[in-house]
Amino acid sequence: QLQNVGVVGLTVMGKNLALNIESRGYNVSVFNRTYERTEKFLENEAKGKNFVGNEKIEDFVASLEKPRAILLMVKAGKPTDATIDTLLPHLDEGDILIDGGNTFYKDTIERNEKMKERGIHFIGTGVSGGEEGALNGPSIMAGGSKEAYEHVEPLLKAISAKVNEEPCAAYTGPDGSGHYVKMVHNGIEYSDMQLISEVYFILKNVLKMSGEELHEVFAEWNKGELDSYLIEITADIFKKEDDVNKGTLLVDNILDTAGQKGTGKWASQSALDLGVPQSIITESVYARFISALKDERVKASKELNGPEAEEFQGSKEELLEQLRQALYFSKICSYAQGFAQMGKASEEYNWNLDYGNIAMIFRGGCIIRAQFLQKIKEAYDREPKLDNLLLDSYFKNIANDYHKSLRKVIALAIEQGIAVPALSSALAYYDSYRSERLPANLLQAQRDYFGAHTYQRLDKEGTFHTEWQEITQKTDQ
Ligand code: 6PG
Repeated sequence: QLQNVGVVGLTVMGKNLALNIESRGYNVSVFNRTYERTEKFLENEAKGKNFVGNEKIEDFVASLEKPRAILLMVKAGKPTDATIDTLLPHLDEGDILIDGGNTFYKDTIERNEKMKERGIHFIGTGVSGGEEGALNGPSIMAGGSKEAYEHVEPLLKAISAKVNEEPCAAYTGPDGSGHYVKMVHNGIEYSDMQLISEVYFILKNVLKMSGEELHEVFAEWNKGELDSYLIEITADIFKKEDDVNKGTLLVDNILDTAGQKGTGKWASQSALDLGVPQSIITESVYARFISALKDERVKASKELNGPEAEEFQGSKEELLEQLRQALYFSKICSYAQGFAQMGKASEEYNWNLDYGNIAMIFRGGCIIRAQFLQKIKEAYDREPKLDNLLLDSYFKNIANDYHKSLRKVIALAIEQGIAVPALSSALAYYDSYRSERLPANLLQAQRDYFGAHTYQRLDKEGTFHTEWQEITQKTDQ
């Protein structure tokens, strides 16, 4: 009997996706570069289930029904190319390769081209939700061959997370679009996490909250507008006691140096390439970089002054509500940037991204899943060509009200010497975006002064240049 689906790569994500696929009634053939891993899998998690495993790649390919659908869950980059190269000689025209790794979207664009020449369908799909999501239902953003997507759509929808019975899996558009959307998802994941961390630091250092109090604040916030996976796990984290230093919280014993695998940085780099503001994600990447300078920071903390920490005199209740509003509003600014970035990329690469649909698949399974994605979906239903989320009626009302809290929170952080780069860049973005006039007139004058770069005028069409020095010399005389 031939198997319905093949999975290559049996590290955690691959294993869990394979188990997820099998649990939906598919027969699955698995392959791993080292056969021991396959054997172990078949003897343990896969025991008694509809799996077969092969040692040789040609046997693995031969075990699959045609057109073959093969999910690649190997490390992004060279290992993915190497896997494709070993598979290719055994594949037939019309077979479908699905790359479910955190692949750089430009690599996916290239692989799409290459595979097209060989008559192989290629799908690059974002799979979000970590280990648990892979097993029980991730969010799936698939880009590439439409025809092939339609063939595997029932499979992808079956294994994905569901929100109100709607699957969180969708076709995003051609070639690299799925991996691009996943990259922006990860960038937003970075900014969500950084914003939450900045607010936590104010709660801890200004309001001097205990773990229990922090848990309660986040658990409470998770019942309202901020309802999301990341707020939920944050609430959980503040309950976890340390096994080593009994009587303390685990989070307080964790080294304050953030790791990263690079997808957040890619999102910022792409924004720079496209010329779109993506300051909140970028500040969140920088915040991880500066956290990594732990030794330097320890030294600097003994050399460089900040303001004297003053005891907070205001109302705790009021500050809590301001922090909640500041967090929600900053999060909105971050998504506004993320969706605007996808808009620019969609134009650049002709992807015709459907933003409402993207918000839908972000609602469940993925790391940034949140109630408020429903609001984003509704915003794009109201206006599919929305320039910026902040201009939608729902988000506009929030912005017009909550910006006041964000200002108060940032002012307090500045007074107390607490760095809030993501919160600050959210407000700077908001204030810039809503400003009819910005000081770029002066920039243009400077550019024209030293480099004859020319400028345009407010009152008439055309390109102008001024001999600035002559004018200043004359007026000096
Ligand atoms: C997901 C996550 C995942 C990512 C981790 C780690 O959607 O399931 O985005 O793909 O790899 O979150 O990312 P960093 O190591 O860069 O923080």
